Amino acid sequence: MPDNVLEVSGLHRAYGDVRAVDDVSFTLPAGGSLGIVGESGSGKTTTARIVVGLERADAGEVLVHGRDRTGRGRGRAQRLARAREVQMVFQDPYLSLDPRTSVEAVLRETLRLHFPGRDHAARIRELLDQVGLGTRAADALPRQLSGGQRQRVAIARALAVEPAVLVLDEAVAALDVSVQAQILNLLADIREQTPVGYLFITHDLGVVRCVTDDVIVMRHGAIVESGRTAEVLAAPRHPYTRLLLESVPRPGWDPGGIAAARRALR
Ligand SMILES: Nc1ncnc2c1ncn2[C@@H]1O[C@H](COP(=O)(O)OP(=O)(O)O)[C@@H](O)[C@H]1O
Ligand SMILES: [Mg+2]
Repeated sequence: MPDNVLEVSGLHRAYGDVRAVDDVSFTLPAGGSLGIVGESGSGKTTTARIVVGLERADAGEVLVHGRDRTGRGRGRAQRLARAREVQMVFQDPYLSLDPRTSVEAVLRETLRLHFPGRDHAARIRELLDQVGLGTRAADALPRQLSGGQRQRVAIARALAVEPAVLVLDEAVAALDVSVQAQILNLLADIREQTPVGYLFITHDLGVVRCVTDDVIVMRHGAIVESGRTAEVLAAPRHPYTRLLLESVPRPGWDPGGIAAARRALR
């Protein structure tokens, strides 16, 4: 049996009559990268929020390293332990970064919370280096940074706790295509250098092609297709997946465009 870091089984979540998540199951191998793709409203964010622990499920299980995340307590130590298992990066890091806190202070706060009583200067330099931010960025406030740089800070903060899983919900959706390619490159490099695995949520099949090994396709809360990313994209079995592949989510969209831009940056 493969060593799965994340096992999700039978997730359900309804909001009134809306079945936001309808019997969703998947696994993520340790250090792997799984894409969840689907149109807006298909239940991707709700699934992500349940995995992270920001939302409760009506039914189902989320296991990390074989241990149930939902059954454990609400105490401070247990909350911190859960946060060290799974971290999340959102679409707009501006909303999750305190406007008055410098990059260095953001990282120091997180490190102090999770690893108290240590000197964090070297680790902060290492994290900045890992996400391609120079030490000059350390003193910057969020508004002094570009969208791509802010997303790098959000990634550094998430990596600071050495999570087993990083959940990225439309993490590059707000960025220009060239900046998207830089961030996708960075995420690919980080996965090579660290044991972290990705749950990569996007409406964009071009993004899925770049950074995931496996993919699940969601529609109306349910999984309609799943498999190796290259195989699903080359020969989609479900009509909905074919529709997603043929549709044009934004002007000038080209499913190979981001992959080509990524290769060109290498
Ligand atoms: N807090 C909520 N209250 C009511 N309905 C919600 C809530 N969150 C999500 N939904 C509904 O659940 C469905 C799935 O939403 P979501 O998980 O955000 O999809 P996606 O991320 O794929 O766009 C949608 O119909 C959405 O309107
Ligand atoms: Mg969403």
